[in-house]
Amino acid sequence: MSTTNSLNGQRVIVIGGGSGIGLAAAKKAAVLGAEVVIASRSSERLEQAKTAITGNVSTAVLDFRNEAEVNAFFEETGQFDHLVVTAGELKHGSGKLADLDTASSREQFESRFWGPYLAVRYGSPLIRKTGSITLTSGFFGDKAIAGASVPSAVHGAVENLGRVLAVELAPVRVNVISPGYADTPLHDGLTPEQKQAWFDQTAPALPVRRIASADDIAGGILFLIGNSYTTGLTLTVDGGARLV
Ligand SMILES: NC(=O)c1ccc[n+]([C@@H]2O[C@H](COP(=O)([O-])OP(=O)(O)OC[C@H]3O[C@@H](n4cnc5c(N)ncnc54)[C@H](OP(=O)(O)O)[C@@H]3O)[C@@H](O)[C@H]2O)c1
Repeated sequence: MSTTNSLNGQRVIVIGGGSGIGLAAAKKAAVLGAEVVIASRSSERLEQAKTAITGNVSTAVLDFRNEAEVNAFFEETGQFDHLVVTAGELKHGSGKLADLDTASSREQFESRFWGPYLAVRYGSPLIRKTGSITLTSGFFGDKAIAGASVPSAVHGAVENLGRVLAVELAPVRVNVISPGYADTPLHDGLTPEQKQAWFDQTAPALPVRRIASADDIAGGILFLIGNSYTTGLTLTVDGGARLV
């Protein structure tokens, strides 16, 4: 098994790198010597994120749901080595199916499936043959939770997309990271008190007894980038959440 600890001379693009798991992955890649590009919608958040990264980093404003923008972004980018897509939102599509608004459910796919689809569609031709793609799903893809049918379906779709692309885009490797509950700005729709109460209630039930940090999940992403014998894999980093 060949796992490299150096990304010297390699370019890594992180769509969603302005926050949370993507930012943590960008930091780690930069520390390993990569030239990192972080992309997401808010230029303000990107500039803030850039100051938190030590190393060679640049930013790009991008809404990955917009096909023309994604195409233009990759036309600018040129060749690179690793694409990481963590971008996604937690605004829509949870609740029992009968209660869901169909437009909100479709919006989940727009952001979490069609965004990664477009990123791969336009980014993959520019990835060097020794490179990789890492997409993001979530442990709901592995577990039947009432009220989570749409997120679960999105995660399953991303995981199957990754598996087939591993064959289609070979020798470029394609993997998926599947996080469990992680303490990131994704949950900032809750007040700090609500968030803390939810984490306090959830953590003791997990086999590892704690909520993940963004860093915990980013460690999995760096493994998928660096391990040259890993492809078509969904790596679940969930502290055992899918088991309980
Ligand atoms: N945290 C968890 O508990 C958890 C659990 C399971 C799965 N996940 C998945 O893990 C991924 C990363 O989550 P996170 O916790 O790191 O969330 P986060 O901290 O909210 O970061 C998400 C990033 O995606 C960007 N983004 C959102 N929509 C975008 C769009 N349309 N185009 C470009 N960039 C966009 C956001 O920046 P802008 O808003 O500025 O665009 C932000 O930089 C998500 O796909 C999430 O579903 C997270």
